[in-house]
Amino acid sequence: MDKFIINGGRRLKGRITIGGAKNAALPILAGTLLVSEGESIIENVPNIRDIDVMLKVLEVLGANIDYDPDKHRVIISALSIDNYRAPYDLVRKMRASFLVMGPLLGRFGKAEVSLPGGCVLGSRPIDLHIKGFQSLGAEVTEEDGYIKAEAKRLRGGEVYFDRPSHTGTENIMLASVLGKQTTRIVNAACDPEIIDLADFLNLMGAKIKGAGSTFIEIEGVDLLRGCHYSVMPDRLVAGTYACAAAISGGELYLDGASEEELKLPLMKLKNMGVEISGDGGGLFISAPHRLKGVDITTFPFPGFPTDLQACFMSLSTVSNGVSTIVETVFENRFGHAMELKRLGADIKVTGDRAVVNGVGKLKGTSVMASDIRAGAALVIAALAAEGSTEVLRVYHIDRGYERMDEALKSVGADIKRVSD
Ligand code: UD1
Repeated sequence: MDKFIINGGRRLKGRITIGGAKNAALPILAGTLLVSEGESIIENVPNIRDIDVMLKVLEVLGANIDYDPDKHRVIISALSIDNYRAPYDLVRKMRASFLVMGPLLGRFGKAEVSLPGGCVLGSRPIDLHIKGFQSLGAEVTEEDGYIKAEAKRLRGGEVYFDRPSHTGTENIMLASVLGKQTTRIVNAACDPEIIDLADFLNLMGAKIKGAGSTFIEIEGVDLLRGCHYSVMPDRLVAGTYACAAAISGGELYLDGASEEELKLPLMKLKNMGVEISGDGGGLFISAPHRLKGVDITTFPFPGFPTDLQACFMSLSTVSNGVSTIVETVFENRFGHAMELKRLGADIKVTGDRAVVNGVGKLKGTSVMASDIRAGAALVIAALAAEGSTEVLRVYHIDRGYERMDEALKSVGADIKRVSD
């Protein structure tokens, strides 16, 4: 297991290029299973562990994969799919493996995917996905820890989400593009990655309208053909590095970052005293030495993203004044708070609310990442901590960030990766 050793106090300065979005690449890769003519060439695929897991799942299902991680390119042929079961040993590593259920069901009329199991963000059920598949005409059963879904050819229909689910919306889109009739998703999630998935599917011949809004309409087509597509840049990675610039009192240009997709986090950063400007191709972030505290409530897009809550908590630990952070999306997403306290932060967590009293300085010690974003938040805090901080279990960070240590080092951070 690798760990990071970070000596805090360096001011970051320079340029970071934002790679492809994990949360767009995963459903797009799952979507290549729908192609029955030609191959899919996907560019700007981030070289991260979650992508390795998704490619393994596709391989197990029978896809032919030619992956060049350095070029960020995957070529996939799904003409020879001969297995419809995604096994537990892969799905347990990454919940998003459940995204293969929709395309398998849509194209072959059968799919078996292991239940993803528990997770550090709370129970994270998949009931919305299942109800959605049933609304499209599938018969769904649970057996020996696997969800089995069957339908001769999905008919399509109306899917009402009680609450917007990001991957739930994607799974229903993936299942219904080859449906007999038109499908309508009501109260769909509106995240930009869903638009990216719709653009990719439409390029292959799908007929999807309304992605990015709460109402999506999918007219079923008979066949999808392979295409050449480039994944959108990762807004959450961009938001993370914006926080890194802010906590270090630094200046970064984030190449590929979009103002439009980060509206609320950027507004909060501005409230904290950070200067931000965009030039159409990226964002300039410039921060004063002491930030001001802010109040944040996470909410589905376009609300404040739950994935950036942890990084903003790190910022608030050293900001002037009191910040209140309310997590409304996941029931248990404050795992980083205890670790930040080990660095000297003053945080009180009660239920879904954390009250953070900014302290003058954090002090380096050993801390442990418990999920992707919690890990990123600890690295951010370590950049501002006095002395040396060890961040353990960086495999969580490697799931979602491509060589974070190298990116931060290139702009002046004192960070090294050590094999433990
Ligand atoms: C996706 C993102 C994740 C992000 C999250 C919220 C991917 C691969 N992951 O996760 O990074 O943090 O959106 O923006 O894109 N829920 C149910 N039943 C369901 C599905 C979800 O109750 O069937 C609940 C969840 O427990 C959670 C809320 O709905 O409380 C939102 O979850 P959802 O949007 O589905 O998150 P994911 O798609 O898993």
